[in-house]
Amino acid sequence: MSEPLILGIESTCDETGAALVRGRELLGDAVATSMDAYARFGGIVPEIASRAHLESFVPTLDSALDRAGADLSDVDAVAVCAGPGLIGSLTVGISAAKALAVALDVPIYGVNHVVGHLAVDELVDDPLPERFIGLVVSGGHSTIVLVGDIATDVVELGGTLDDAAGEAFDKVGRLLGLPYPGGPHVDRLSRTGDREAIRFPRGLTAGKDSVRHRYDFSFSGLKTAVARYVESFQEAGHEVPRADVCAAFSEAVNDSLTAKAVRACLDMECGALVVGGGYSANSRLRALAAERCEAAGIALRLPPLRYCTDNGAQIAALGAAAVRAGAAPSPMDFAPDSGMPLNIPVVSTVG
Ligand code: KG4
Ligand code: ZN
Repeated sequence: MSEPLILGIESTCDETGAALVRGRELLGDAVATSMDAYARFGGIVPEIASRAHLESFVPTLDSALDRAGADLSDVDAVAVCAGPGLIGSLTVGISAAKALAVALDVPIYGVNHVVGHLAVDELVDDPLPERFIGLVVSGGHSTIVLVGDIATDVVELGGTLDDAAGEAFDKVGRLLGLPYPGGPHVDRLSRTGDREAIRFPRGLTAGKDSVRHRYDFSFSGLKTAVARYVESFQEAGHEVPRADVCAAFSEAVNDSLTAKAVRACLDMECGALVVGGGYSANSRLRALAAERCEAAGIALRLPPLRYCTDNGAQIAALGAAAVRAGAAPSPMDFAPDSGMPLNIPVVSTVG
């Protein structure tokens, strides 16, 4: 018998996503984003995001079904992001998913969005390794996890104590007068700058901090150092060397991310590193991760950009993995969890 058809629904932040997955095969997906609405606010406005999910949900679902050549009546289970994310956005997706599950009389799986960023990798590559280190980097997360089974065994080793990598890039972008979200603009400028021109601090990498926070990150001190540096030029009436600032800042962030991810692989004797999340579009992260993994004999898996940013496929992939692992479906009354812990890949019946 063929594996069940899973409908995945994503609505944690500003992307509405739907996807159909059978086993490890992605049959079709669609994504709508409300990001364009936020440029003039300089950040996501949760109320606008919630309304956008409401408007985009049905058209996005229809496109995904269309692309998969499937009908709603073919769906065997619904997977939906249960958290972490914006509570209003999550509520729209979860309500829609529950309505579909009840109407179709199929089980529902409330899954962890962040873990989904790693699960999606097996839709575009081989099945996930038996044991690996995951690095999830996005506007909201910079996290290192140790993964056995993606649906049942995820242990958080560390993460950022303050800003996420993408968030730090967005803040530096604002400091330099670049449009929101600043991440891709800072990345673009950094390619023309000199990474060694300025030595910005790497948080939690020296002394006692590097022992106590072996797998943790901190980017707030770095952000302050960049702000001071930029101000010193502005106060002197000199033009800010934006490309060098971007290159040196980017180097500091990516040096920390890749050094600690590789360290986790070596400490935990894992031969593979899987990277996911919207920030993995960063060009220097990709290059440095490839360089350092190769030097350490670690296999690096980085999904194509389209599946690094938020999408329904990551949710369907984790739903499919939950079914494969024999996990119980989630109870119909589960609630959105804006701070859903990473060691809960799937909302379980108990607790
Ligand atoms: O995963 P994602 O799409 O949304 C969240 O769940 O947060 O990540 C978006 C984040 C934003 O902060 C954006 O500025 C950042 O990823 N980002 C980048 C790049 N592309 C996206 N940051 C640096 N360099 C990039 N090329
Ligand atoms: Zn995400």
